[in-house]
Amino acid sequence: MTIPKALRAPTPVSPSSADLPIPIYSSLEPVYGEGSLLEEAQFRFKAVKAKFVELFGQEPQVYARSPGRVNLIGEHIDYEGYSVLPMAIRQDTIIGIRKRDAGESSKEVRIGNVNPKYPVCTYPADSDQELDLKNHKWGHYFICGYKGIYVFAKSKGADVGLPVGLDVVVSGTVPTGSGLSSSAALVCSATIAIMAVLDKNFPKKEIAQLTCECERYIGTQSGGMDQAISIMAKTGYAELIDFNPIRATDVQLPAGGTFVIAHSLAESQKAVTAATNYNNRVVECRLAAIVLAIKLGMSANDAISKVKTLSDVEGLCASFAGDHGSSDPGFAVKTLLKEEPYTAEDIEKIAGASLTSIFVNSPSSLDVLNAAKHFKIFQRALHVYSEAKRVHSFRDTVLSKLSDEDKLKNLGELMNDSHYSCSVLYECSCPELEELVKICRENGALGARLTGAGWGGCAVALVKESIVPQFIQNLKGSFYKTRVEKGIITKDDVDLYLFASKPSSGAAIFKF
Ligand code: GLA
Repeated sequence: MTIPKALRAPTPVSPSSADLPIPIYSSLEPVYGEGSLLEEAQFRFKAVKAKFVELFGQEPQVYARSPGRVNLIGEHIDYEGYSVLPMAIRQDTIIGIRKRDAGESSKEVRIGNVNPKYPVCTYPADSDQELDLKNHKWGHYFICGYKGIYVFAKSKGADVGLPVGLDVVVSGTVPTGSGLSSSAALVCSATIAIMAVLDKNFPKKEIAQLTCECERYIGTQSGGMDQAISIMAKTGYAELIDFNPIRATDVQLPAGGTFVIAHSLAESQKAVTAATNYNNRVVECRLAAIVLAIKLGMSANDAISKVKTLSDVEGLCASFAGDHGSSDPGFAVKTLLKEEPYTAEDIEKIAGASLTSIFVNSPSSLDVLNAAKHFKIFQRALHVYSEAKRVHSFRDTVLSKLSDEDKLKNLGELMNDSHYSCSVLYECSCPELEELVKICRENGALGARLTGAGWGGCAVALVKESIVPQFIQNLKGSFYKTRVEKGIITKDDVDLYLFASKPSSGAAIFKF
């Protein structure tokens, strides 16, 4: 007998892992496994505890960790609303934290670091404080989380009481300025540590969104990729991250290939150079989207008030392309925009408004306008639309019926195309990265590209597993040897800057 639909018990919907809260562990093994990784983690947790006792005379109440990431493909498109495909790396930030009791005298947030390079930073226990962005301090990243968690708790109606004083010690192994998201690892671990010490936990997807917003307090208009992967990563998988709303889909990479990460040794200081580099590109994309919208028939008023990203006008571009026998939104860019850089006056004429009025509510965008001579909106839009397509081709290749060998070959080619686009159209590479990417390819990489924001930092190369040791040896002999000789790094440090990486796990809380 068939039971009428209305009488059937509802099918239980199993929550996706993004709906679950941050996992809480009482030992390190679930995150660090066993062997040398576990030993290194044990050593670092002990060092955090020892530093904590040295600085504050007590032990931390709780710990949190969040990893760095390497982006495999999908560069500079997250803030335009497009999916990206990163994986977490084993390097992470660990935080030990203790809530200062109401009775304790100083109501401050004191942030120490096991690395003596980073002096103790002290801030008031005030979640409304403004960060002094002209005076950039490493502790600012922690305060991003501190400010964010109180705003978020309030919006959720969660009672976290008045902002508390905190004692904090940080230990980080994600190289700074490397394009491997040391900043997101710090902001995410800070946010989770504060949440944990306040005895709260929330679904990962909400924390991914929250931490992305938190990091913007530092003045970069970053997208949500770094925080999303740091929070939602799973051992053994890269993740396709979608936005609006944030989602993560596991991507199992084909067997036989390994990603090798190599630092160009040019430091990429995203926050410090925001006005001319990172935020500049965000502004250029917005201008590209507004101009395209107007050229495609939208009123200037609507374009300025409604169009925020290139994904907002993709539909218009695609239907224009469709009318001309193409399915590529890039066709609209090539047809409707001029290749030469636009001056502010060029765009103001099209938009019928001054650029400063368009960005009046965004001080960091106004900094961009002050610093910019012109806007390469043709090139930036072409990069974004083509890179968004490559992300899907990457995933389709992984899911295809091709042999693993052919899959790896195709993935490598997509990575090479992505690098070309970043370098030539988006202009976020630098001479050191160009040299490194070339050396990777000459030494047998199936593909190599800059990863992260660029302008320095790391390259990621897809290498056949069988040649990884030789590949690393060759890079040491070519790219790094001369740098060691010049004293830019020491020989012992090379392994910190050049390593093979497997997809690692995401954020976690530890209560021992
Ligand atoms: C930085 C940002 C990310 C992303 C990348 C470039 O890492 O934080 O949101 O935009 O640059 O892909």
